Amino acid sequence: MDIKFDIANLKGFIEKKEWDDIVPQVKKAHEELVNKTGQGSNFTGWLDLASRTDNALLDELKILGEEVRENSDCIISLGIGGSYLGIRATVEFLIADQKIPIHYAGNNLSSGYLYHLLKGLEDKRVTIVVISKSGTTTETALAFRIIKEFMEKKYDANELKKRIICVTDQEKGALRKSINSEGYRSYPIHDDVGGRFSVLCPAGLVSLALAGLDIHQLIEGARDAEKAFDEMDLEKNIAYQYAAARYLLYKKGKKIEVLSTFYQRLSYVAEWWKQLFGESEGKDGKGIFPASLNLTADLHSMGQLMQEGERNVFETFLMVEDSGHKMIIPPAEENLDNFNCVAGKDLDFVNKQGYKATSSAHYEGGVPNMTITLPNCQAHALGQLYYFFQKAVAITGYLIGVNPFNQPGVEAYKKKMFALLGRE
Ligand code: PA5
Repeated sequence: MDIKFDIANLKGFIEKKEWDDIVPQVKKAHEELVNKTGQGSNFTGWLDLASRTDNALLDELKILGEEVRENSDCIISLGIGGSYLGIRATVEFLIADQKIPIHYAGNNLSSGYLYHLLKGLEDKRVTIVVISKSGTTTETALAFRIIKEFMEKKYDANELKKRIICVTDQEKGALRKSINSEGYRSYPIHDDVGGRFSVLCPAGLVSLALAGLDIHQLIEGARDAEKAFDEMDLEKNIAYQYAAARYLLYKKGKKIEVLSTFYQRLSYVAEWWKQLFGESEGKDGKGIFPASLNLTADLHSMGQLMQEGERNVFETFLMVEDSGHKMIIPPAEENLDNFNCVAGKDLDFVNKQGYKATSSAHYEGGVPNMTITLPNCQAHALGQLYYFFQKAVAITGYLIGVNPFNQPGVEAYKKKMFALLGRE
């Protein structure tokens, strides 16, 4: 496995005996998950989604992307939650490979945001992808109404059929009805895959293929991870080590997990991770609160609290071994800032020393921490990481004793909002 996992900074927080004692519980969670006997098992289609994905579909999406990029200046990807975060996380991480600008809509209810977005696209050739599993989500449905009107002013009905692509349930929902009546191109979202687990199905893949990203390698990475994280051996399975460590720390009162990244391109992976972990674990009065920090920037804002605040936090660092591009620090004759010590070095060298210093200082300050390291900024590594986190959250969810695959709590505000809007 290319991903590395380091737990040296858990020493003193989790004892050897606790690791040994947790094995039977992890084994039970593993068996419930893979045998599909645990809670929410009808939403565990993500377990072997990558290996079930037909390469022919990936080839078809790659060709669709090439076609769309020939007649478009940009893409608008409409969706929210699981129909948005994985796409944005992937696009931002693979930024170097992106072949066309991609804008996002349907992920907020801000008039100003949509006004400025559409204003800026008046003279552009636009293709839109509307993603909604339920086909009824407020933000996506309303953005689609407004953007559809914008598209109808630009294009005739034939052109719209090419420029509006929908990703939704195979049979149900308002979006499926529009597809049937208007003849838009469409791709189905799997029944057995929940929104936050759907980045590797058409919910994520269509927009990613249009952006020109390597979806074959993304899926290949997840396929490799399926095999690597399948074995029930806590010594070998790093996804299970991460899951078990999180659970043991939670039981000791560490109720908040901070995912700290030292790379800008990982900041939306952290957003995706927050949804995956928050929505999967936060129920029945339980759950670790997932937060994230962009370092080193947030060391100048949240660093104080991490170092000396209430000790109810643990931290997971997300690092990259080969960050891709080099940015060499030049020497300065007068050395006024006293930084000639790093002249001739890549900026990433300093970044990595920043990580070493931070993980050690936080550890000494009472924050147990772990580090996940990706080999590089390629699609294959990201596919592995997505699967690593999905597998881990399923196991911690079962250890905590919740159904990691539902999200009943998100209905409460919707009911109140629909009542205020007079919507049936
Ligand atoms: O994880 C989830 O199920 C949610 O975050 C959904 O992805 C989100 O609410 C969007 O739902 P839909 O794709 O049905 O529009």
